[in-house]
Amino acid sequence: MRINTLITSICLLVALTTTSLVAADTTESIAVIGTGEVGSTLGKRWADKGHRIIYGSRMPKTDRVAKLVSETGGGAIATTPSIAAQQADIVLLAVPWSAYKDTVESLGDLGNKVIIDPINYYKPVGGYPGPLDGPSIAQQVQALLPEAKVVKAFNTLGSEIMADPKLAAGPVTIPLAGNDREAKARIAALARDAGLEPMDMGPLSVSVFIEGMLGLYVSYRQYNPGKGFEFYLRPMPDIINSGR
Ligand SMILES: NC(=O)c1ccc[n+]([C@@H]2O[C@H](COP(=O)([O-])OP(=O)(O)OC[C@H]3O[C@@H](n4cnc5c(N)ncnc54)[C@H](OP(=O)(O)O)[C@@H]3O)[C@@H](O)[C@H]2O)c1
Repeated sequence: MRINTLITSICLLVALTTTSLVAADTTESIAVIGTGEVGSTLGKRWADKGHRIIYGSRMPKTDRVAKLVSETGGGAIATTPSIAAQQADIVLLAVPWSAYKDTVESLGDLGNKVIIDPINYYKPVGGYPGPLDGPSIAQQVQALLPEAKVVKAFNTLGSEIMADPKLAAGPVTIPLAGNDREAKARIAALARDAGLEPMDMGPLSVSVFIEGMLGLYVSYRQYNPGKGFEFYLRPMPDIINSGR
């Protein structure tokens, strides 16, 4: 009898431990706008952690999107971008730079929702990444959605690492920028849920530097064929920081 009780307790403990590894602390409803590489990858990763994924696609009824919804599981659905965005608290803009303005304008009033901007803009000069002019993409998104809490994130790594961070053979940093600390904390939690290490860099104005990190990422790969790196910014011990 005692052995049975012990076995039951161990099974319960294992079940609880397993559940805590899978489930996120807070369940978010996330509109993933765009069902390409980034949208489909992060959608699946977050659904695995118990978040509710609402894909917003220009073609939500296609077999391709139906397959993605089925692979995502966890009650995921697909609808139009505007309905998806209205139904969620957090909106991921996983669309090409060339389409971000039209996409954002098509979403309607997003009020003070949290918007994740992973968008990169690559402008080559002499075959290598050139400087980015003017405000960052994230600042331009913020200008279109003045009340929203825009967070720059997930633009400094490839979708294959988002899918499986272990491929990086070490930790991968997700630099974040945005004007709302609570919004950034929620996105930081989503980064951790995807097996990545968030680092809050400051207000949205510094998103220009986060966007510039892509230039290094791309340039190194072009200049050193067959090689690549992932960004890992190693935090210093607090005691050293406080002494400066
Ligand atoms: N790929 C990466 O490794 C990576 C990494 C970091 C950041 N990013 C950035 O993340 C964003 C998404 O990248 P991605 O690789 O996921 O792109 P992608 O594979 O081309 O997918 C983009 C998705 O956006 C939607 N979309 C809306 N308007 C569009 C238009 N006019 N033309 C094409 N697609 C449109 C489409 O989904 P529907 O057909 O369902 O509407 C499409 O599948 C980009 O801004 C990119 O710079 C990419």
